[in-house]
Amino acid sequence: MESSLHLMGRTIEKTVEPELGQTILQHAVKHQVDWQHLCTRGTCARCRCIVLEGAEHLEEPTKAEHRRLDPEEFDEGFRLGCQTVVKSLGKIVVRNKTYF
Ligand code: FES
Repeated sequence: MESSLHLMGRTIEKTVEPELGQTILQHAVKHQVDWQHLCTRGTCARCRCIVLEGAEHLEEPTKAEHRRLDPEEFDEGFRLGCQTVVKSLGKIVVRNKTYF
């Protein structure tokens, strides 16, 4: 199966090779996509993003995400990029969508 991770930052979009065990934010930083972030611990929510495709290839939300995001946000597909780990290969599309 062909696998790809499409990252949409503030102004830069890139399709990169997904790496198992790495977070969305780690991919964005490595590939120089302008993905907002600050704490990398799941508290600031700057890295918030919406998963448009391939949620099944991502690990379940962490405790930090459950503390920081509302249940409705999970329903809409929001995650924290610094907490969201790629668990299987496939097509994944995510857009950095912070609150402000
Ligand atoms: S970088 Fe702060 S919550 Fe992800």
